Amino acid sequence: MGEQLAWGTTYVAVRPDHFRVEYQINPFMDPTVQPDPARAREQWDTLVATIEELGGTVHVLDQRPDAPDMVYAMNLGLGVERHDGTRHVVLSHMRYAERRMETLTAQPWFAGLGATTSYVGRDGVGAHFEAGDAFAFGDALVVGYGPRTEELGLKHLATDLGVRVRGLRITHPGMYHLDLAFCPIDSTRAIVCPDAFDEASAAALMAMVPEPLVLTEAEALSTFAANSIVVGDTVLMPACPDHVRAQLEDWGYAVRILDLSEFHKGGGSIRCLTNPLDVRLGRDLPVVPGGEVVIP
Ligand code: ARG
Repeated sequence: MGEQLAWGTTYVAVRPDHFRVEYQINPFMDPTVQPDPARAREQWDTLVATIEELGGTVHVLDQRPDAPDMVYAMNLGLGVERHDGTRHVVLSHMRYAERRMETLTAQPWFAGLGATTSYVGRDGVGAHFEAGDAFAFGDALVVGYGPRTEELGLKHLATDLGVRVRGLRITHPGMYHLDLAFCPIDSTRAIVCPDAFDEASAAALMAMVPEPLVLTEAEALSTFAANSIVVGDTVLMPACPDHVRAQLEDWGYAVRILDLSEFHKGGGSIRCLTNPLDVRLGRDLPVVPGGEVVIP
């Protein structure tokens, strides 16, 4: 029986003032298929209003005009709260140069919240890390690596934060971030798509989640159902296959479907658009002095 997540009510999001599909760095992006700016703004406003209606808080960061993908705020960095209330953010070092300027804006913004910041690499030098690949779950920070985050980055995360990192190798080009294949629901439950990973990592993931809710490859890719967030006892999802809804409701969760179709054109949905700021070290993520990396 899972215990509700203590994190997931405070987020940072980037208002889509300059959202476009300008280049192609994932299989969903096609620059000849542009989002409609007014619809995108409406969908984003509804997402923010829904989080607030459920008791959550959304901090809004302005989008850089030169950073069309910055709306996917999940990838700006990985933030944690220390027990004394101070924060630390490990900034992303984007795999593709097209997104690296986003961090230049994110760093001072996080610092303005009082956060200390660190980086695993920058300007193309050092390990890549994109925060959509990292979630606190169970006894560790679960980190997907392969398409975006590099294996070398796991060590930096473990030592910078003083936590255990459990690495999972992503092999599916369409599930290029962990958040397209993994969504923590509560302390023992998560939505998972094992097809995103190599065999050993898929097995490690299934061993890590006591009560997995399994998506097929087709469900994960065509509905973005894993790219969801949990606010209180409500799961906000872009779509929800019937068996997923039945299981979530059976576990006591309410499902709210939100249309984020304009953002699917850039390859992301609800989780990608929101970055949780309230994951707490020692509560949501056990402290492991010196850090530790576990790879299947
Ligand atoms: N176009 C963005 C990229 O390829 C989409 C990011 C989706 N974000 C996520 N957390 N999965 O980087």
